[in-house]
Amino acid sequence: MKIFIDSGNLKEIESLVPLGIIDGITTNPTLLAKEGGDYRALLKQICGIVKGPTSAEVVATDADGMIRQGRELAKIDEHIVVKVPFTREGVRACRTLASEGLRVNVTLIFSPTQALFAAKVGAAYVSPFVGRLDDIATSGMGLVQEIVDIFENYQFSTEILVASVRHPMHIVEAARMGADICTCPAAVIEQAFKHPLTDIGLERFLKDWDKAGFKQ
Ligand code: G3P
Repeated sequence: MKIFIDSGNLKEIESLVPLGIIDGITTNPTLLAKEGGDYRALLKQICGIVKGPTSAEVVATDADGMIRQGRELAKIDEHIVVKVPFTREGVRACRTLASEGLRVNVTLIFSPTQALFAAKVGAAYVSPFVGRLDDIATSGMGLVQEIVDIFENYQFSTEILVASVRHPMHIVEAARMGADICTCPAAVIEQAFKHPLTDIGLERFLKDWDKAGFKQ
């Protein structure tokens, strides 16, 4: 399973990409607004660091506007994936942008039918928001399983990009279900690195080595 960072923050991206486990980035209007400044320049920098799919979202709500903005975003860098919201207009825009060869990530997916429709119009990715479903006492990962089943039935090439990830168990469940990608806030990736038994074990190894007094 590919791991993306769900962030527009350069420091976070620069600290995690060198680990070698990061395959791409997702941003959204909220994440880029947090960073401020020139969002195009920021996206270009991010693409240069990760050198992998980097989602940048349109903010128009009509199909023509989304198509226009999508084409402009795609010009920023070859790694840009145009993100459009799942609406009737978003589906129309996805169809056109995909037919022009652009990769489209259809976001704000909260039901399996939305994912199916997005796949039918050539979305490269669908983004089910698992955390926001969990927040309203509905199983986010249940939705992912439904989408996995549907896409397997019809061999869609659309990749399932699990989004709105809140904790490492979402990563584990996504991987067990065979989701293609899990996009995680940097804090969740950091959490997934930690294990007290690893820390205790390492401390003991080093102490024992020191006690032996080996000459280096
Ligand atoms: O990838 C979508 C994500 O940024 C939304 O996450 O935590 O705002 O639900 P959240």
